[in-house]
Amino acid sequence: MRIMIAGCDNLFGLWLPLLREQTVNAVILITLVPVALMTNWRLSLVLIALLGGYSAINIIVMRRTSVGQENVENRFTDISGQLGDLFGNVTVLQSFLAVPDELRSVRTSLHELLRAQYPVLNWWAVSAVLTRGASSIAIVAIFGVGTVLARQQLATIGDVVTFVGFATLMISRLEQLTSFIIGVSQRLPSLEQFYEVLDAGSHIEEQPNAPALRVERGHVTFDNVSFRYPGGSGQVCNLSFEAKPGQTIAIVGPTGSGKSTALGLLQRAFDPDKGRILVDGQDIKGVSLASLRASTGVVFQEAGLFNRTIAENIAIGNPDAAMVAIENAAKLAGCHEFIIRKEGGYAANVGERGQGLSGGERQRIAIARALLKDAPILLLDEATSALDVATEARLQESLDRLRQGRTTFIIAHRLSTIRSADRIVVLDQGRMVETGGFDELIARGGTFAMLARDAGLTAAANDLDVKALAA
Ligand SMILES: Nc1ncnc2c1ncn2[C@@H]1O[C@H](COP(=O)(O)OP(=O)(O)OP(=O)(O)O)[C@@H](O)[C@H]1O
Ligand SMILES: [Mg+2]
Repeated sequence: MRIMIAGCDNLFGLWLPLLREQTVNAVILITLVPVALMTNWRLSLVLIALLGGYSAINIIVMRRTSVGQENVENRFTDISGQLGDLFGNVTVLQSFLAVPDELRSVRTSLHELLRAQYPVLNWWAVSAVLTRGASSIAIVAIFGVGTVLARQQLATIGDVVTFVGFATLMISRLEQLTSFIIGVSQRLPSLEQFYEVLDAGSHIEEQPNAPALRVERGHVTFDNVSFRYPGGSGQVCNLSFEAKPGQTIAIVGPTGSGKSTALGLLQRAFDPDKGRILVDGQDIKGVSLASLRASTGVVFQEAGLFNRTIAENIAIGNPDAAMVAIENAAKLAGCHEFIIRKEGGYAANVGERGQGLSGGERQRIAIARALLKDAPILLLDEATSALDVATEARLQESLDRLRQGRTTFIIAHRLSTIRSADRIVVLDQGRMVETGGFDELIARGGTFAMLARDAGLTAAANDLDVKALAA
């Protein structure tokens, strides 16, 4: 944010004086030299020598300050990031009594920033003093050389007076030009960062003129898919499974086993290193990103709410939806009751990142959003993890309705949620270790059966639990 805001400011601050003043200055300086040469070439040499000396000083100052200023800009960006992080997590800092430590570290960063800034400021001060002194030096030099030349009849008094005028004009224009150039060198590092951000491409490459994904039935196939995070150890290896149209696939496994990564690959948050993912026979790498993402409804553990009204947050699923459709989605997701109890109802603001709502309320709004999107493929990544068991069981019904006719992928730690899946894919350390139906996997007594036992669930008990709670 800081880089972009500062970059825009700086661009504006460069273009405006460039067009308004510097073009005029350039024209004056370019015409001044030939006119001076025609008037008296000997005195002109003094003028040109001054011009050269002046430029040399400023080039030296710019060389000295460019690296320093870049350092300053980088520190500025770091501090902005640091402060953004602190403000975003202020409740954590308070409860862990970390505020004084963090303040100290901010103070240290600020001191370092100043320490980096001072040498640069010193050089600019030197340049300012020399620039100011230059006009006096110029006039004295013209008078001195003019007097000598006049004595030898090589210049008239009129020439000397004219050249004093030239020198004053030239120095004042040069002064403006220099302060502009110093401004450029001050802004250059920040502009470099700005263009770096502006030019940064997505790591997901979209083929030019890629056709839109056509989802007719929602048949999803993972074909020997492998992916490793760049520079990280997290990975998935040789994933091969398919979701037939309308089926629900549950992905389970210990934390860090690659479940979210697998769903990320399906949305092309990253591209597989090996293998491919097909939707209705089309490799998702070959279709347009927008069409792929339009075909998938997603609910994450982190609801992702905006500082807007409840209705607006749900309408992100479909910006053209009428209020009736929004309310319907909310009813299906089991959030209508708590919304109308809120002051302002659907027009109530949820606060930054939905802080005005409970974790469970946030998740239900995220589910309503996915319902409203009405996409043929549904991805639920621990979509109900923030709900209590009873609410989850009640919501199960709306989720079941939501899943009807859609190919659905569910990630859940609570095995009761995945009881009704058509097929379960069990991951461990990025590899698929088992797959099959719930009862089949329990009977097999492998990893899944162990997970289920640890969760205190057997097929029968789980059934009873959920039914009792739903009632
Ligand atoms: N952006 C990332 N960069 C590098 N490594 C990552 C990144 N995201 C996840 N990982 C690593 O990849 C592995 C799989 O992560 P993933 O989020 O898929 O796990 P998961 O099965 O969804 O776990 P959980 O049940 O806790 O959500 C982990 O070891 C994790 O540390
Ligand atoms: Mg996850």
